[in-house]
Amino acid sequence: MKIKVLGSSAGGGFPQWNCNCRNCDGVRRGTLKATRRTQSSIAVSANGEDWLLVNASPDLLAQIAANSELQPARRARDSGIAAVLVIDAQIDHVTGLLMLRERDTPLPLHATDAVWQDLTSGFPIAPILSHYCGVEHRRIALDGAPLSVDALPGVQIDALPLTSKAPPYSPHRNSPERGDNIGLVFTNRQTGKRVFYAPGLGEIEPHVLEAMRAADLLLVDGTLWTADEMIRLGLSKKTAADMGHLQQSGPGGMIEVLDSLDAKSARKVLIHINNTNPILVEDGPERRLLTEHGIEVAYDGMTFEL
Ligand code: MLT
Ligand code: MN
Ligand code: ZN
Repeated sequence: MKIKVLGSSAGGGFPQWNCNCRNCDGVRRGTLKATRRTQSSIAVSANGEDWLLVNASPDLLAQIAANSELQPARRARDSGIAAVLVIDAQIDHVTGLLMLRERDTPLPLHATDAVWQDLTSGFPIAPILSHYCGVEHRRIALDGAPLSVDALPGVQIDALPLTSKAPPYSPHRNSPERGDNIGLVFTNRQTGKRVFYAPGLGEIEPHVLEAMRAADLLLVDGTLWTADEMIRLGLSKKTAADMGHLQQSGPGGMIEVLDSLDAKSARKVLIHINNTNPILVEDGPERRLLTEHGIEVAYDGMTFEL
């Protein structure tokens, strides 16, 4: 089983087009040791040829161009992307669906009912795409049964409902529904190796902790270093919790959570990193602290084989 990080940044990307925070300005000017990143997406493959796109970012076309594996060129019109799964209906995870409209068959889209509702109402991408390739909704039922995805033979996918946030345009932004946000466990049935993926993890609920403990690779919410990071920088009025994210530093933060797993040889990787996050500075104290805790920071193009 292969996992490719197509985009390791949160919504907005790094640098963000209109942002002049220390990180965005520094990476733009080349005065900061930091690397550009596109918006949140990974791709998973069992055979290295057919891929499940997990989250379709606004940067999808650039991500496809940067990852030649996604274009196996088997016929006149072709793509390695066999199907898409979205973990929520946020702009950074679904806008790229519009970029797949030139397909000649309906796009298989794995999504919960709550997310499908958003994509047919608050952000009506599915009805829009019905005028192009069309979308075939494959339900993620959250009934405890593993999903089967045709493109990923030998890989079991388990979806976990998460306490996070539906997007601002969602009819259930203020009355959360089960399935607004999910985390995923990918298990290679042959090797038994497991990946836990949750770029938006507002709360570490018991079932989440259990899945994290069992994972060999953790790709988890790396959005913000402190809960009030965006507020302190004068860039937003929202805390990490308001946005459905868990900060890394301090009591109850992600570093503490990752430390508490007695996950022997598991790789711990932060993903979905907001452009304001000081961990993006590769020679900074926050990055050093992560390294001391055995925690890595995802970058575009990072690849795992399990
Ligand atoms: C989030 O996860 O909070 C997002 O990155 C928001 C967005 O895409 O604007
Ligand atoms: Mn996001
Ligand atoms: Zn910025």
